[in-house]
Amino acid sequence: MGFSVTPLNPTFGAEVSGMDLRKPLAAAEIDAVVEAINRYAVLVFRHDTPLTDEQQLAFGRALGPLQKLKMIKMLQGGATRLATPELIDVSNLGPDGKIRPADDRSRKYNDGNLLWHTDVSFDDNRAVYSILSARVIPPVGADTEFADMRAAYDALPDERKVELEGLKAEHSVWYSRALGGLTDVSEEEKATRPPSQHLLVHSHPRSGRKALYLASHASHIVGWPREKGRALLDELTAYATQPQFVYAHKWQAGDVVMWDNLATMHRGTTFDNLQYPRDMRRVTTLEREMAV
Ligand code: OGA
Ligand code: MN
Repeated sequence: MGFSVTPLNPTFGAEVSGMDLRKPLAAAEIDAVVEAINRYAVLVFRHDTPLTDEQQLAFGRALGPLQKLKMIKMLQGGATRLATPELIDVSNLGPDGKIRPADDRSRKYNDGNLLWHTDVSFDDNRAVYSILSARVIPPVGADTEFADMRAAYDALPDERKVELEGLKAEHSVWYSRALGGLTDVSEEEKATRPPSQHLLVHSHPRSGRKALYLASHASHIVGWPREKGRALLDELTAYATQPQFVYAHKWQAGDVVMWDNLATMHRGTTFDNLQYPRDMRRVTTLEREMAV
C-alpha cells in the first residue's frame, strides 16, 4: 500500500497521503486508518476534487454505524438541503442552496459549533469518528481547531488527576445551543434530545490512554453545586485548549478531516458567513447502532 502518515503537530494530528477516499478502500487500508486515528486522533486527507456524498458515506460506513440526523429537519421547518439523514449539513446554506439569512434558526444552531466541543456528547450513544468533507470554502477564515484531550490530561498535576477521577458531567445540546444564541426552543424539540451523563476523565476504548471528556454541551458536574461545577468545567476547557494542545486546520476544497471525538475537542472559527458560501458535510460514526 503506497500511503504515508506524516505528523502535523508534536502530540497529535497527521496527514495521510497516498490514500484516495474517492475510491473504495481495501480492508487493510481501513485497518491502517483506524491504527493511525488511535495514535494521532486527527487525520487529514487531501484531494484535488471533493468527495461526492456517496464516497463520503462509503468511507464512514466502513468505520462504524452512522449517526442519522432527524432534528435539523424540524429546525428548518421540514426542508433539508441534503437528502440523506446520515449526511450532516455543517454549511451556511439553505435548502435552496443560497446563503441562509441572518435570522435563520439553523444558522444559530450551527453557530454553537464555534464553541469548543466534541460531537454528540449529549447522547448516551456518543460520536466516535467525525468525518468532515470540504466542498466549497470561503477565501479567508473558518479554520477548524482541534485540541488533544489525551495530552491535556497527561499534563495535569497528579493531585488534579486524583480529584477528577470518577466525576461525571451532564451534557445537553440545548445548553450549548443557548450559549450559541438559540434560545427559542420548544419542549417538543427539547424532548428529541434529552441530556446524558459521562465521566469527565475516561480511558480511551481503543488506545487505553486516559483523556479529558469535555464539551460546550457539558452544563454541570453531577452531584456538585452548579457554580462549583461550572467553574471546574470552564477552568478545564481553558486549560485543555491552550496553544500547546491545539492544531488549527486551514481548509482547502477537497480536504477530508477525520477526528476522534473520544480523544479531542474541536471548534469552528468565524468568517464572513453572510457573504461567502461554506459547504461542509459531515458523517459521524457512533459507539453503537442508533435505535430507531
Ligand atoms: C462539526 C463542526 C466545525 C467547522 O462538523 O462537527 O463542529 O469548522 N465543525 O465546520
Ligand atoms: Mn462538531
